Amino acid sequence: MPNAPTLTSFGPGKVILLGEHAVVYGEPALAGPLSLGVIAQGSPASRCKLEIPPSVRGRGRKLLTDAFARAASASGLPKIGVAVSSNLPISMGLGSSAALSVACARTLLRAAGKPEKPEDVIRVAGEMEREFHAQPSGLDHTCSALRKLILFRRSLQGIAPSVSRIQSPRPLRLLVALSGKRGPTWKTVTELKERVARWPAHYLGLIREIGRIAREGAREIERGDLDALGDAMNVNHGILTALGVSSPPIDELVHRLRGLGALGAKLTGAGGEGGAVIGLFLEPEPALVKLNQAGIHCFVSQVAGPQAL
Ligand code: PMV
Repeated sequence: MPNAPTLTSFGPGKVILLGEHAVVYGEPALAGPLSLGVIAQGSPASRCKLEIPPSVRGRGRKLLTDAFARAASASGLPKIGVAVSSNLPISMGLGSSAALSVACARTLLRAAGKPEKPEDVIRVAGEMEREFHAQPSGLDHTCSALRKLILFRRSLQGIAPSVSRIQSPRPLRLLVALSGKRGPTWKTVTELKERVARWPAHYLGLIREIGRIAREGAREIERGDLDALGDAMNVNHGILTALGVSSPPIDELVHRLRGLGALGAKLTGAGGEGGAVIGLFLEPEPALVKLNQAGIHCFVSQVAGPQAL
């Protein structure tokens, strides 16, 4: 088997800094990779399969099996069994399904002896994501596959997707905090779609405004203006609340992060009854300690810019 010793691949989780939900409607969104993610390890087997722990049963098992089958055929059905492990919180808005899809896609492509080109990883991982989310924008798995801060616009009505790398002259350090449980992404996305279809005049302007803020935020990052980026995040959160995808637990955590000195804070990902919240900090450590003491699950991740030595 080609490259047998290197069949271990990583798919990072992601955070959306600006633009979730609006990206579904063709607006640009800004997302960066996390240091946490999913590892997929392949070993020789009689057929191409995902090793799913017996504790995963019912609908979850079927979803994983069907999603993996799509990626397996898209990569040429190499004869390997793929086992996965993750240190990423699942279904909290941090792109866990995309991280799983990217890790599996990389391992499958390597096992099939295909050079691991980013466009192939995106294509194969996209097959899995479509099983998980029906009609994902593609932002999550594109960001995970490229492992860079990107401004992304989905493919819509025949227009090809566009991806630009955003360079940050300053470290972009985020505190990621988790609040409660939330439903699946497709549910929040579908419920918003129903409201948009019923009352387009209430929603379409807000969605366009999020896109404008995402574009502006990308320029602010490139200028190194983190105060402006923080403000863009605050405004973006306000609009997401108006769209009805936030909730009291999320809003409370957003205000808490601002109270702890965040330059800006907002929900990240699909939102709903709970999920992940991000705060942009110059020095997130003191806030991290305070939140940990209060029993809130949180961590720090740098998503772009020069790394500290
Ligand atoms: O909550 P997550 O990690 O599944 O992110 C969803 C992002 C959305 O913009 C709400 C949906 C999408 O397809 O981009």
